[in-house]
Amino acid sequence: MNNLLDQNLTLKGKKVLLRVDLNVPMKSGTITETSRIEKILPTIKLLIEKEAKIIILSHIGRPKGKMVEGMSLEPISKKISEFLNKEVLFDKNQINENTISKINKISNGSIMMLENIRFNEGEEINDKEFSKKIASLGDVYINDAFSCSHRAHASIEGITKHISSYFGLQITEETNALKRITSEIKKPITLIIGGSKISTKIKIIKNLIKKFDDIIIVGGMANTMLKHTGSKIGKSLHEHDCENLIKEILEKSKAYNCQINCPIDVIVSKNFYGTGKNKEIGEIENDEMILDIGPKTILSIKKIIDSSNTVLWNGPAGYFENSNFANGTKEIIKIITEKTLKDKIFSVAGGGETVAAINKFNKFDSFTFVSTAGGAFLEFLEGKKLPGISAIN
Ligand code: 3PG
Ligand code: MG
Repeated sequence: MNNLLDQNLTLKGKKVLLRVDLNVPMKSGTITETSRIEKILPTIKLLIEKEAKIIILSHIGRPKGKMVEGMSLEPISKKISEFLNKEVLFDKNQINENTISKINKISNGSIMMLENIRFNEGEEINDKEFSKKIASLGDVYINDAFSCSHRAHASIEGITKHISSYFGLQITEETNALKRITSEIKKPITLIIGGSKISTKIKIIKNLIKKFDDIIIVGGMANTMLKHTGSKIGKSLHEHDCENLIKEILEKSKAYNCQINCPIDVIVSKNFYGTGKNKEIGEIENDEMILDIGPKTILSIKKIIDSSNTVLWNGPAGYFENSNFANGTKEIIKIITEKTLKDKIFSVAGGGETVAAINKFNKFDSFTFVSTAGGAFLEFLEGKKLPGISAIN
């Protein structure tokens, strides 16, 4: 690996473009969970020690190439500054002709953060000119964003074609841990998949079936499965137009002898702020939405985990931000961590929302490994080459 440490790079006075994943949970402009920020502090500290000029590139949300209010990285730059007890300059403007002169003015060991890279049209389409433009801002590029490395975006993949590129400390730690775990993995293997970001993940399930004995589907993904297999889900969050995909998932699960498990009961409410009511699937009214899994489902998940030797988990079981809908997620954490401690099974959890939930319920230490990555973690499990990793390897 082309790693920041292995190479013993001299970076004094060099402009280092550092791509990190600061896509942290926010509520009305306030950061609600800081794990992803804390994870990249060692890389920043090392670059300060090496007296580099540090230029941080990152994103938050999916602004689709446009400036979106509420998706600025400014609050995050302030948080980094607080953690480091050091000034972090922030450039509010889109990348333009003036960006380079601002960067040229910063002193060795200083930090400047650029605005949300996804505000630029060229980022997500991996535009060649945009990749060149961002590469021209620095002397060296470092990818320390494992959780974004499944995206062939300009600041992850395209840029590496135009500048010397290396891996940071965090990405190295995550890939090493996941490589070790996936090579030592023991059957029966269970995957729990949930969360609210359904659109990209549902396709991944199809490719993961052959690797698992059980797949437990919860959260928004479960609503989609339930709806497309004929159950009424009221006004629950779900993905449209995926009948064929779900048909394929079910056929493939039979062919590979992988059991797909969907909720048998759920907690519903008329809105996100309400209180919950336990209902069986089939009893849900049109004006209700599913916001958590129910006790019968939790019991069935416990049975599956009790007979697993490996458990991988991405995505909460419900809207855990409201304590009325947090029980499913809390219980999943409890069941996995107790099993890990008791029987020394492998348990890996990953993803922004998942890490936030684990942190909230304070069970970080009991998993074998907790990854910052969700989508990237799942694609890594698929055995796919991640564009951000291949580009530097
Ligand atoms: C994530 O949280 O999954 C990463 O920050 C990547 O974001 P994306 O899923 O919007 O590409
Ligand atoms: Mg993602």
